[in-house]
Amino acid sequence: MKALAHLNKYLVKYKWYLIWGAVFTAISNLFGIIPAQLVRYALDLVKETLDVYFLYNGSGLQSNLYDVFAFSILLYGVLILVMALLKGFFLFLVRQTLIVMSRHIEYDLKNEIYEHYQTLPLSFYRKNNTGDLMARISEDVSKVRMYVGPSIMYGLNLITLFILVISYMVSINARLSLYVLLPLPVLSIAIYIVNNIIIRRSEEIQQSLSRLSTYVQEAFSGIRVLKAFVREGDSAANFTAESDVYKAKSLHLTRVDALFFPLIMLLIGLSNVLVVYVGGQEILAGRLTPGNITEFILYVNMLTWPVMALGWTTSQTQRAAASQQRINEFLSVRTEIVSEKNLDTEIQGDLEFRNVRFIYPDSGIVALKDFSMKVKAGETVAILGTTGSGKSTLANLLTRMYDPTSGEIRIDGVPLRDYKLASIRRQMGYVPQEVFLFSETITNNVKFGMPEMAQEKVVQAVKDADLYQNISEFPEGFDTRIGERGVTLSGGQKQRLSIARAIARDPRILILDDCLSAVDTNTENIILNNLHRIMENRTSVVISHRVSSVKLADKIIVLDEGAVVEEGTHQELLAANGVYRELYEKQLQTEEV
Ligand SMILES: Nc1ncnc2c1ncn2[C@@H]1O[C@H](COP(=O)(O)OP(=O)(O)OP(=O)(O)O)[C@@H](O)[C@H]1O
Ligand SMILES: [Mg+2]
Repeated sequence: MKALAHLNKYLVKYKWYLIWGAVFTAISNLFGIIPAQLVRYALDLVKETLDVYFLYNGSGLQSNLYDVFAFSILLYGVLILVMALLKGFFLFLVRQTLIVMSRHIEYDLKNEIYEHYQTLPLSFYRKNNTGDLMARISEDVSKVRMYVGPSIMYGLNLITLFILVISYMVSINARLSLYVLLPLPVLSIAIYIVNNIIIRRSEEIQQSLSRLSTYVQEAFSGIRVLKAFVREGDSAANFTAESDVYKAKSLHLTRVDALFFPLIMLLIGLSNVLVVYVGGQEILAGRLTPGNITEFILYVNMLTWPVMALGWTTSQTQRAAASQQRINEFLSVRTEIVSEKNLDTEIQGDLEFRNVRFIYPDSGIVALKDFSMKVKAGETVAILGTTGSGKSTLANLLTRMYDPTSGEIRIDGVPLRDYKLASIRRQMGYVPQEVFLFSETITNNVKFGMPEMAQEKVVQAVKDADLYQNISEFPEGFDTRIGERGVTLSGGQKQRLSIARAIARDPRILILDDCLSAVDTNTENIILNNLHRIMENRTSVVISHRVSSVKLADKIIVLDEGAVVEEGTHQELLAANGVYRELYEKQLQTEEV
C-alpha cells in the first residue's frame, strides 16, 4: 500500500475536488436518509388515521378526515420525490468532483511517466520491451485511476453513510441494529473474495486473448511465407487450440460471475428476514412501530451497496497498489547520462576520441578497444569496417546515447560530458543506420520538431539528399503522407529522406551511419558531392563498409573488432598496401562485374 503514497502529491494538488466531493457525498447521503424517515411517518400516520377513521364510521366527518388524510399522503409522496431528485443532483456533483479528479490525476500521471521515459537512456529501452513500457502507461495507470476515482468515492460514501445511518439506527433501537448489521461484514468479505477471483480470471482471459491476437497478427503479416510453405492447415489448427484455451477460461469466469449475484441476494435477503423477525418481536414488546420496521428495511438496502463496494474497493486498491509499485520502479530509474556543467555553447566541430573503450552493459561485448582519433572542424572523417567492427557504436557514443566505459570524447577540447545534452545533440545531425521515419508528410519528416523551418530549407535539404526528383513525381509532392514508418517509400528513398532530415537543421557535426547502403553508387556520388559542399566548415563522420563512400574523405579510419587497423587518406592507404587496398580492389572488381 505504501506505493500509493506517490499519488498523495496529486491528491494535494486536486484537494478542492476531494473536499467538495466529500461534502457532496455527505449531502447526497443525507437526502437518501430523509425519505426513509418520511416513509416511517407516512406509514405510522396511515395506521393511526385508520383507527380514527373507523371511529367516525357513518358520520359526515369521515369524508373530511379522508380528504386531510389523502392530502398528507400526497404531501409525503411529493416530499420523497423531491428528496430523491436532490439526492440525484448531489450524486451528479459527487461524480463531477471525484471522478473528474481521477481523470485529472490519470492525465498527470501518464504525462509524468511519459516525460520520464523520454529522459531515460537507450540502455533502459534495451532492458525493457515495448509491451512493458506500454502496459505501465496504459493498463497500470487505469488501475491506479480506479483507486483515486471510484475507490475513494465509494470509500467516502461508505464512511459518511455509516456515520449517518448507523448512529441513527442505534438511536432508534440498538438491538435491531445489531442483528441487521450482522450479515453485512460477511457480505463485504464475500465480495472481496469473489471479486479477487473474478479479477484473476479476467486477467487470465486477457492474456489468452492477447496471445490469440498476437498469433493472428503474426499469421496475417507472415501470410506470404505461410502460403509459400503450405502451412495453412497448421495455422488453423493452432488457432483452434488457442481459441479452446480462451473458451475454457471464459466459461471458468462465467461460473463465478453466475454465483456473484445470487450470493449477494442471499445475504441481503438474510438481513431483511432478520429485520422482520427481530423487528416483529420488538413491535410485540411495544418498543417499535411498523413504520420503524419499514424504515429499517430501507436502511439495510441503503447500506448494502456501500458494503459491497467496500469489498470491491479493497481488492481494487490492492491492484492499484501493485500497479503503482510497478510504475514507481520505472519512475525511480535515473539516467546516468547527465551533465554537471551543462555547457550551452555553440561548437566549432573539433572532434577527439582519446583511448575510448566501450563495453555494452547488457551483453558484455567489447565493442571498442582503445579507440583514438582527431578530427579538425570542417574535416570529413570516414570510418570503414566490416560488420560488427564497432562503427555504429562510435555513433552511439558521439551522440551520447551511451558514455564510454573508459577514455574520453572531446568536442572543441571540452569533454562531451560537460555539454548540456539537449544543446549538443541539437548541434549534431544524425542519420541512423536503421532508418526511422514518422507516419507524417514528407515536409514534416524533414522539419521534424522544427515547425518554424522555412519551406525553402526543406526543399534545399531534399535536393541535397538527391530526393527532389522522386518527390516531384509524387502526386501530392511534399505533402505526401509516407505511411507507417514510411512503408510507401523504397529503401533508398527512405534513406535519403533520413539524410535530408539531418542536414536540414544545419548541424555542426553530421554523422552518417551507413546511410548510403541502399542507394546505387551513382546516387551515392551525387549525395557525397552535395555533402562536401554543404559540410564545408563543418565536421562530418561518414560510416560505411563500402570504399566508394569513403574515398572523398579527408581522413579514413579502418576499424576491425573495435580497434583501428589503418589510418590515412585514400592515396596514403592505397600506397600502404594493407587492408584498405585489399578491400578497395575487391570492391572495385565487384563493381566492374
Ligand atoms: N545494443 C547492443 N547491445 C549489446 N551489444 C551490442 C549492441 N549493439 C551492438 N552490439 C555489439 O557490439 C559490436 C559492435 O556493433 P556495431 O553495431 O557497432 O557494429 P557495426 O560496425 O556498426 O556493424 P554493421 O556494419 O553491421 O552495422 C557487435 O559485436 C554487436 O554484437
Ligand atoms: Mg552499424
